[in-house]
Amino acid sequence: MIGTDPSSLSNLSDWRTTKFHLDLTVDFDKKIVTGTVLLAIKPTHVNVTEIVLDTSYLDIHSISIGDEDVDDFTLDERNTLGSALHIPHVLRTRMVNTTVHVSIKFSTTSNCTALQWLPPAQTSGKQHPYLFSQCQAIHARSLFPCQDTPSIKAPYTARVRSRLPVVMSALRTSTSYDRDTGLTQYNFEQPLPIPSYLVALASGDLASARIGPRSTLWTEPQELLASKWEFEHDTEEFIRTAESTVSNYAWQTYDILILPPSFPYGGMENPNMTFATPTLVSGDRSNVDVVAHELAHSWSGNLVTNVSWEHFWLNEGWTVYLERKILREMHGEEARQFSALIGYQALVDSVDEFTEQGHLEYTRLIPDLTGCKDPDDAFSSVPYEKGFALLYHIEKSIGMELMDEFTKAYFAEYRLKTIDSFTFRSFLESWVKTNGGEEVSQKLAKEVDWDDWFYAEGLPKVDPNFDTTLAEKCYALAKKWEEADDSASFSKDDIKNWLPGQLVLFLDKLGALSTPLSATKVEKLAATYDLRSSHNAEVLSRYYAVALKSKWSDIYMEVADWLGTVGRMKFVRPTYRLLRESNKELAVKTFERLKDFYHPICREMVKKDLGL
Ligand code: BES
Ligand code: ZN
Repeated sequence: MIGTDPSSLSNLSDWRTTKFHLDLTVDFDKKIVTGTVLLAIKPTHVNVTEIVLDTSYLDIHSISIGDEDVDDFTLDERNTLGSALHIPHVLRTRMVNTTVHVSIKFSTTSNCTALQWLPPAQTSGKQHPYLFSQCQAIHARSLFPCQDTPSIKAPYTARVRSRLPVVMSALRTSTSYDRDTGLTQYNFEQPLPIPSYLVALASGDLASARIGPRSTLWTEPQELLASKWEFEHDTEEFIRTAESTVSNYAWQTYDILILPPSFPYGGMENPNMTFATPTLVSGDRSNVDVVAHELAHSWSGNLVTNVSWEHFWLNEGWTVYLERKILREMHGEEARQFSALIGYQALVDSVDEFTEQGHLEYTRLIPDLTGCKDPDDAFSSVPYEKGFALLYHIEKSIGMELMDEFTKAYFAEYRLKTIDSFTFRSFLESWVKTNGGEEVSQKLAKEVDWDDWFYAEGLPKVDPNFDTTLAEKCYALAKKWEEADDSASFSKDDIKNWLPGQLVLFLDKLGALSTPLSATKVEKLAATYDLRSSHNAEVLSRYYAVALKSKWSDIYMEVADWLGTVGRMKFVRPTYRLLRESNKELAVKTFERLKDFYHPICREMVKKDLGL
C-alpha cells in the first residue's frame, strides 16, 4: 500500500520525494558528516500543511523551502524509529504536481547508527582512518533527514568532500580539488530511482583493481591482491547468468568494496557497489555465493523493492531464489539442492531461536511491525528461507519452465517500482491463468494456501524435500562421531574432496545433537580436520558452536579472541549467545573489551543478546 509504512515517521501519504542531492563533508577529526540535503518533493493532494521527515540523532541547523527560510521546525521526542522532524508549510493547491525544493543543513552526531568511524588501528594499513555506512533497514535517517521508507524511490546525486577516497552507491562522475577546504570532492550520480536504505558511502585508503568488464574491486591496498583473486573468476559470469535468468543488468557497473572486519553483514547490495565483509576472502573462493546473492539484489530489492519491511521476504526470498538459480545454471541442480538444504537448516535454527525467546510472531513470512517495532529485531533467516521455500513451492507447482518465464515477467512488470505480498500474489495468479492455462492455475490454487504461507508461525507446512545426495556423507560422518567412543579413530581422509559447504553441514549436524559431543571428541574433531586453523569463518564459527555447546572450556579464550577479529553479526551474535551460556562472565567481559570494535548496529544487537 502506498502512503503507509509502520517503520517510518514521515507523512508519506501527503508528499513524495522525487529526487535528492547530498552535499557532504566527511570530518574525520570530529567524526561527523556535515552537509546539506536538497529534496525535490511533490505533494499528493491539495491540503498538505506540513512536511514530516525521518531523522535519528541528527543535528538540524537550518531549513529553507524554495527561497524562504523556515524557522519554526520542531523535532519530536525520540522513539525506536527516531525523531520526526516537523516542518510546518502549506503546500498550496496550485503546487500539486509541481516540484517544491526543501533544503536542510545538518550534521550527524556521535550516536549515529548508520556510520562506523574506524581509527587507523582498526584498518589494515594502520595509517588512515576509515568511514563506512550501513543504512538498511532504518538507519538512513541517522545519516540525513529523509523519507526513510522503501516505498518511496528517487534518483540522487551527491558531492562528498573528504581527505580520503570516497565511494558511494552510485556512479562516480568526476573528482576535483576543492580550494575552500583543501579537500578532494567526489561527485556521484545514481540515475535510477532507489529507496533511502540503498544510500551508501565509504571513505578510506582505498585502492582498486579490475575484476571484470564492468566490475572493479575496491579495498585497502594491503587486501587488494587477495580480494581481486577471490572474485575475479566468478563476478562477470554471475552477472551474465543473472541477465539470462532475469533481464539485462540495469545499473551499468557492478563493483565490490571489501570493508574492514567490523562490517556487520556478509554483504550489502548497495547499488553499483556491493559492500562486503573481508571474511569472504578465504583464499579458496568458497564464499563467492555471497556475491551471487548481492548481485541478484540488483533485480530483487534494488529494481523491484519491498514496499515496507513487513514484506522483506520479497527482497530476500526472491534474492535467495535467484542466487540459487545462478548456482544451478553454473554448477547444476545438485548444487542448488545442497544450498537449499543448508538454508533450510538456518531456517530451523531461526525458528528454534524465536521459539526460545517467545517471539514466534517473527517466524511469520509477513511479520506485524506496527507499534514502532525495530526491523533489526525481526531480522533472521525467516524472510530468506521461508521466502525461498514459498517460491520453490510455487516452482514445483507450476513447473520450472513456467516459473522461469514468470520470473522474467514479474521483474519486467515491477522494475523501478515497489511491491507488497498481496500484489505479488495477484500478479502471479493472473499471470499463471493467462500463460499457464486453467489446469495449472487450479493446481496452483489448490497447492498454495496463501494465508498459511503469509501468516502461519513456525516452519512451512509443506516439507520441501530437498535432495540429500551431497548431504548424506555429512550426516553419516556426523553420526559416526556421535556414536563413537572417545578412543575411536578418524582421519583427514573422512572429508577428502568435500565441498566447503559439506563441512559446514557436517558441523551444523554436530551442533544440533540433543546430547552434545564430549569435550574429548570436540578436541579430537579439530585436530583431525584442522578446523581451528580454517580461514573460512563459516567453518570456524560452526566449530566454535560445537565446542561451546560441549562446554569445552579450553576453547573459551580462543573464542573470545576470535570475537575481536570479526564484526559480522551472523557469526558474532550466535557466538556471544553460546559463550554466555558457557561462561557468562567471560562473555560480558569480552564484549565490554571489544565493544568499540563493533559497528553500532552490531553493538546494540549483542547488548540485547547478552541481556545488558
Ligand atoms: N540486504 C542484506 C543485508 C541486510 C539485511 C542488511 C537486513 C540490513 C538489514 C544482504 O543482501 C544479505 O542478505 N546478506 C547476507 C548474505 C547472504 C548470502 C544471505 C549476510 O549478510 O549474511
Ligand atoms: Zn540479501
